[in-house]
Amino acid sequence: MDAARAQVADKIKLDILSLTQEEDNKRGIREVSRSFLCANIVPTLEMYLYATRASVGDDVYHEPCTKALEAHMANITGKEAALFVPSGTMSNQLALRTHLKQPPYAVLCDHRSHIVRYEVGGLAHHSGAHAQMVIPSNGHHITLEDVKEHAVLGEEIHTCPTTVISLENTLNGTIMPQDEILRISEYAHSNGINMHLDGARIWHVAAETGTPLDELLAPFDTVSLCFSKGLGAPIGSCLVGSKQFIARARWFRKMFGGGMRQTGFMAGAAAYALTHNFPKLIDVHALTRKLETGLVELGVEIITVDTCMVFFDPSPIGVSYAEIVERASSLPDPLKVGGSRLVVHIQTSPEAVEDLLTVIRDLAANKKAAGFVPSVTKTNGLRSYNNVYVRGMAKH
Ligand SMILES: Cc1ncc(COP(=O)(O)O)c(C=O)c1O
Repeated sequence: MDAARAQVADKIKLDILSLTQEEDNKRGIREVSRSFLCANIVPTLEMYLYATRASVGDDVYHEPCTKALEAHMANITGKEAALFVPSGTMSNQLALRTHLKQPPYAVLCDHRSHIVRYEVGGLAHHSGAHAQMVIPSNGHHITLEDVKEHAVLGEEIHTCPTTVISLENTLNGTIMPQDEILRISEYAHSNGINMHLDGARIWHVAAETGTPLDELLAPFDTVSLCFSKGLGAPIGSCLVGSKQFIARARWFRKMFGGGMRQTGFMAGAAAYALTHNFPKLIDVHALTRKLETGLVELGVEIITVDTCMVFFDPSPIGVSYAEIVERASSLPDPLKVGGSRLVVHIQTSPEAVEDLLTVIRDLAANKKAAGFVPSVTKTNGLRSYNNVYVRGMAKH
């Protein structure tokens, strides 16, 4: 190489690994094992080693390992075809864009849905669609009665017809009863409305209830499932549906800039997650229940709890979220806690759960010593409405 080109190359080259990268990563894994913030965990060396053995084709032209993953996903979800995409957001937005063909149209969903709360207004931007957001009358999940109250049918000139009903399961960690999904789906299909599921966390439903994925997903025309989050892959989601639908969505994926090239290693990581991490979810749920039981024993109010998430309120024992966050983060081996939501995942250590309970126990003891009188909580002991439903569904 001549001197000029060597200089150009010198400016371009980059080494992003720190001198202590291996140690930093070990620390990262340790931090994640003590974090209750979210389910985004650290991919393991074993996962990466498996992923590096994957094929090296170009996925714009159907990459072999990615194609194998898509075929497997179609098979286990009981749909004709699948499409690998970078994120859950893209998967949901592609699905809605593909469903919504000719305005005026609206998407009906729970008001807490990821598609309307946390996808940057994508429904309006990508699809120009109106959102019909429903507050569940039972406080847990939307029912057919809620849907009927808000769905717009017919061709009255002033209205915006419901074209898609988009459900989410789990939603905030809670499982939607399958019989309610079936009722909504029958109503939707008999009125020409398509059913989409944001199943980013559907794995938790399959693990908790022991129900096969194809049975859970049969009521839906399309479903988005994530390999990141609970399953622990670093990247990737799959959209599943009919052959015709997925062919159209593949076109939109390219338009959205999601036509990726050498995705084999991503598909490899996803396959590893399906094989090795899915079976661990049942232990995650057991650890979540242990956390819930510990909180209840301390007199903390449980707002909702299911699968891998606990929403709690420590005010009955005189403790605030800020105090918990502060005390947890200043431990010699810190814990990461946000506010009311605690997320347990496959890398959460049982010691972290014990340590968090100790933090809250100590804070409560201090408050009591200072004269605070704990109040009796509404839900504790009785279990919340959600759990009555959820535990009723569980098969183990
Ligand atoms: C229910 C649900 N849907 C969709 C998404 C979006 O996934 P992503 O972050 O991969 O875009 C998330 C992310 O946490 C989610 O929880």
